[in-house]
Amino acid sequence: MTILGIIGAGEVGTHIARAAIVNGYTVVIANSRGPETLTDLVAELGPSARAATSAGAAEAGDVVVVAVPLKMINDMPVESLAGKIVLDTNNYMIWRDGHFPIIDEGKKTVHELRQEQLPTSRVVKAFTHIQAPRISLWGQPAGSPERLALSVSSNFPEAVEFVRFLYDQFGYDTVDNSPLSESWRTAPGQPAWRQERQTQAELAANIQRAAIQALC
Ligand SMILES: NC(=O)c1ccc[n+]([C@@H]2O[C@H](COP(=O)([O-])OP(=O)(O)OC[C@H]3O[C@@H](n4cnc5c(N)ncnc54)[C@H](OP(=O)(O)O)[C@@H]3O)[C@@H](O)[C@H]2O)c1
Repeated sequence: MTILGIIGAGEVGTHIARAAIVNGYTVVIANSRGPETLTDLVAELGPSARAATSAGAAEAGDVVVVAVPLKMINDMPVESLAGKIVLDTNNYMIWRDGHFPIIDEGKKTVHELRQEQLPTSRVVKAFTHIQAPRISLWGQPAGSPERLALSVSSNFPEAVEFVRFLYDQFGYDTVDNSPLSESWRTAPGQPAWRQERQTQAELAANIQRAAIQALC
């Protein structure tokens, strides 16, 4: 059994927690205000879940999800995440996050910045172009003709393979859009982000389309 640490107990963190528990994972989940504020959530999630501090969730997790917006000043537990695969669900939203000039100028993706903030972790972009409540609703068994796909981006092939495995467990096919420098292709505003329901072929086409649009 794999323990999934989850930093961020908002929409994405809680929906990934639910899907993970259904698939046999144990979940250790954290928010910014402390584990005592997560009593109701943990009661709802059941015996496979417990609350911790961010560092506690990072330390407990065999793999850790960071479902928290990226901040200029790094607020993640870097040392506790060292050596771990870290799923980054962040979408860069100027209205919420403010301007990161290096992203606005196209010099770095938001996930490359996360990788820089977590230099000893293996960051992988995941679950970014599906509304969180759909994660548990839209999964289908492998081979279903209408099965949807989600993208993944990382500089680490083993992190891509973990996410591919997790997506498959949750009922989704995978399109690998690595490395992190290419992850802008599924960022907010891009075709793959705007079209939420996509088969593997449609998602791959939309990822290509982003590059074509960038040239126009
Ligand atoms: N919502 C979606 O459908 C969706 C889909 C795809 C991707 N995303 C992206 O995924 C990320 C999370 O989105 P969300 O909708 O889940 O956000 P949210 O509902 O606002 O939840 C954010 C969570 O992060 C926690 N948090 C913030 N700073 C923290 C810190 N320093 N340490 C520990 N926990 C911290 C918050 O805790 P407190 O409440 O205690 O502050 C809260 O539990 C965002 O970047 C978003 O763009 C969202």
